Amino acid sequence: MNPLTTQLVRPALPERLGQRLEALGVSLVWLDGDGRAQPVGAASGFERLVVESPVFAASIRRLWPQLALGSGAALEVWPGLWLTHLPIHRRRRAGLDPFKPPLLAAVFLGAELLGSDQLHAVCDAARVDHRATVDRVDPAILVSAAEARRLAMSLAWLQQDGLEMDRRHGELHNLSQQLGESYEELSLLYKLSSSMTVNQPPAHFLTDACRDLQQVLGLKWIALQLTDTEPRLNELAGQVITAGPVGCAPDRLKEIGKRLMSARPVANRSWVVDDTTTLAIPHLRDIASHLLVVTLDRGGQPAGILFGGDKLDGSHISSIDSKLCGSLANSLAIFLENMMLYEDMQSMFMGVLHALTSSIDAKDSYTHGHSERVALLSQQLAIAAGLPAEQVERVYISGLIHDVGKIGVPEAVLCKPGQLTAEEFGLIKLHPQIGARILQDIRQMQDLIPGVLYHHERWDGRGYPFGAAGADIPLFGRLICLADSFDAMSSNRTYRQAMRLEQVLSEISRCAGKQFDP
Ligand SMILES: [Fe+2]
Repeated sequence: MNPLTTQLVRPALPERLGQRLEALGVSLVWLDGDGRAQPVGAASGFERLVVESPVFAASIRRLWPQLALGSGAALEVWPGLWLTHLPIHRRRRAGLDPFKPPLLAAVFLGAELLGSDQLHAVCDAARVDHRATVDRVDPAILVSAAEARRLAMSLAWLQQDGLEMDRRHGELHNLSQQLGESYEELSLLYKLSSSMTVNQPPAHFLTDACRDLQQVLGLKWIALQLTDTEPRLNELAGQVITAGPVGCAPDRLKEIGKRLMSARPVANRSWVVDDTTTLAIPHLRDIASHLLVVTLDRGGQPAGILFGGDKLDGSHISSIDSKLCGSLANSLAIFLENMMLYEDMQSMFMGVLHALTSSIDAKDSYTHGHSERVALLSQQLAIAAGLPAEQVERVYISGLIHDVGKIGVPEAVLCKPGQLTAEEFGLIKLHPQIGARILQDIRQMQDLIPGVLYHHERWDGRGYPFGAAGADIPLFGRLICLADSFDAMSSNRTYRQAMRLEQVLSEISRCAGKQFDP
């Protein structure tokens, strides 16, 4: 087949280059190694006649290696016909690529061409009159050999600058894409770290984090499965938190999470599963084809596992998704670790308080368990009074330590069977203030002091140590006073038997507005 009869397959000409060269009046032509030529844009009839001729094709085939070699030089194809190669892609390394893609060349014409044997041959082959053809050529387009060389050099520089701009544009594009991804990652992590400082229940925080991650990654669903072997996770232990429709019963999802956790004990490193059938985990295929998995590490032990399935747009889970998920898992692992450390501190704190108050109650067999009961009753009263959860917890602790000042009251007085003398009762009455003094230097217990100091005050102002009345008595003091009296009346004393529940309740009603807050 004659190569000139088939169309040359050429790459697209960069738009900016095409516009610039057209404005400069430079004629361009696509050429390939078979000598096929295709003028670019509005080439003149004369130029077309020349470059589309078999004579020109033969010369191009012969000169192809020199032409393809480089730019900046004006290659004299015939007398008065120069070509210069304008590379539009970065050059491949010589010898590595046997494929010869078409190249773009600028064409310069000189006066010598008009009288050359080659133009006679072109006209003969095309069966056109040489004289008439030459007469139609605009002399203004003709250049000398020196001008052709200078033009070739200028075009080469222009072209190099253009390629450099394209390269930088490409780099800028990649960079802005990376920046966009980093921004998403940073804003998600920032949002998370802000939420960590807000005093909200851990389950809410984890639910929000899963929802944010699901939205940022564009996954159909995300699940966070927490380990059931860590008691310090409290009610979160063994729980699975989800965002998006998983399409699976919670128990089944928990089982899948457990299997994934044992399948992938590598901490905080994301794992992309392109085909979930390869994992042989029952029912996993029902909820996802592609899966993103990362374990939440806490010092080598997994605290849980974060996994999510299938992109909403049907695309594959990318390494960027995986990296972002890993960063979030890291933050969640830190959050859980802090939560468990807080739980440790809290349980130690409560343990110390219980030990302290039990040792006070133990001084007197009649008051055994009294502090614990007052704490529980105060807590119930606080709930009934509609106090917020964190206040309820503080009321409980305040109730637990309300009699801590008894540590400073002589045991002989505290445990004396029968009636106390006025002096002995005076000593007993000191215990609220002794308790307040014990606590006054502990910063974290300042809010508990009113409960300790005022729990023997009466609504009618006839209590001790200050004789405060009505709303001047802090709420913690009023709550603990009621709980304390309830427990005292319901317990045996050396001087009387415990009262029955109805009697206690009727006594409390009778004393409302006198001893107790009505
Ligand atoms: Fe007391």
